[in-house]
Amino acid sequence: MATVAVPKVHKNFINGEWVEAKTGRAFEDRNPAHPAELIGIFPASSQEDVDEAVDAAQEAFKKWRLVPAPRRAEILYRVAETLVKRKEELARDMTREMGKPLSEARGDIQEAIDMTYYMAGEGRRLFGQTVPSELPNKFAMSVREPLGVVGMITPWNFPMAIPSWKMMPALVCGNTLVIKPAEDTPLCTHNLVQILTEAGLPTGAVNVVNGMGPEAGAPVVSHPGVSAVSFTGSTETGRLVNQACASSFKPCHLEMGGKNIILVMDDANLDLAVEGAVWGGFGTTGQRCTAASRVAVHKKVYGEFLDRFTARVKALHVGDGLDPETEMGPLINETQLQTVMRYVQIGRDEGAKLVTGGHRYESGPLAEGWYHEPTIFSDVAPNMRIAQEEIFGPVVALIPFDTVEEALEIANGVTYGLSASVYTRNVNLAYRAMRDLEAGIVYVNAPTIGAEIQLPFGGKKATGNGHREAGTAAIDFYSEWKTLYIDYSDRLQRAQIDSADLG
Ligand code: UN1
Repeated sequence: MATVAVPKVHKNFINGEWVEAKTGRAFEDRNPAHPAELIGIFPASSQEDVDEAVDAAQEAFKKWRLVPAPRRAEILYRVAETLVKRKEELARDMTREMGKPLSEARGDIQEAIDMTYYMAGEGRRLFGQTVPSELPNKFAMSVREPLGVVGMITPWNFPMAIPSWKMMPALVCGNTLVIKPAEDTPLCTHNLVQILTEAGLPTGAVNVVNGMGPEAGAPVVSHPGVSAVSFTGSTETGRLVNQACASSFKPCHLEMGGKNIILVMDDANLDLAVEGAVWGGFGTTGQRCTAASRVAVHKKVYGEFLDRFTARVKALHVGDGLDPETEMGPLINETQLQTVMRYVQIGRDEGAKLVTGGHRYESGPLAEGWYHEPTIFSDVAPNMRIAQEEIFGPVVALIPFDTVEEALEIANGVTYGLSASVYTRNVNLAYRAMRDLEAGIVYVNAPTIGAEIQLPFGGKKATGNGHREAGTAAIDFYSEWKTLYIDYSDRLQRAQIDSADLG
């Protein structure tokens, strides 16, 4: 049974209750494959709603921080079990709401399942350190403490995976939270939070405030009762979040744009590299921050790669994600489609060669949705805007190169630094690339997408601000160290001054 078979009026979730926004306003959530299809109606919230949500989270924090972490984790185990059971139905909701093919939507839910199990396991770890003291009869250790209320701003491209990357580590560490999900995919967060609640999460531990960034997101970030913020989205908005957090020294985790590259060396397995470039560039319609929007190919194999890549991309099956044949779905909304069309024009104006694609679907069954043809530009110069700026759509720039040095220079010659990949059979070259690529994630003989949840996820330069999500790196963000010294000598012992009495 589908969670939402007919358009439904949804609410915010504050202090354990589904409530309307104080504004009385609402917004529509539509299917990007068939914009006439209304998925649901969600509240357009503002400061007042955020205030209530933060109050509830602060109140809940008083108790939740004292619940033993293994007990907190039991709730997460139950959440994971439910996600497994309801995976198919949740995936269908996701495809209808976000447009990605059903197989990818299942992957998105699976990523949430993996993260939830992983963080549930952390409930019995959350390791700190015990280290020897320099003084006798003294004990020293460090423990992790929750931060308080965490504010979360999540994107639409991984509408269940990314909220789970933030919520699960935050909760297991003992934080409570207020989440403002992307206005394009509120249903997925709604579904996840419903499952968290059914699993027994106490009142107020998780609160959802729906709405637009400036009205509902900004107040979450700047609220004095919010102790830390985790944001995934554009570099532009990330900068605003960073600035809003700076004056009160609020820890903030930013996961922003990418201009990721696949390097195809002259000894690469070309079939493998082509498959990787298709999946990396056009998976999720190029709407991943890890998408391979640049592919740089050694001149010796450039012509052959271009032919094979083009043939494969031309054959991509574009359509409604619910159709099992579909390999690439629509863009998330009209604005995103316009952005892609603008960049195609920019590419043409810059003199890049349009090899295939380049248009939205003007007629036929895809004309009603936010579809754009999978598009390749060849002979792209590394400094062109289409090779520098994040497009977040099905547009790949092919760049020829001559030497390894040149390849690395092209790869690193962008402001972003999320993921990068190299296709080669030369072990020396692979290690050199792993060392020299300025990216938070490097793949060898695999595309730039497909990070696993047990390892740190995030990027350098304009992609991030030094923090990482996933794995134990997430625990580092959602907890704070407290160092404890216990002196049981019954006398004053001055560190660095009183030497140990060895007599
Ligand atoms: C994102 O695009 O924001 O590595 C996240 C990947 C996915 C997550 C992408 N596991 O491509």
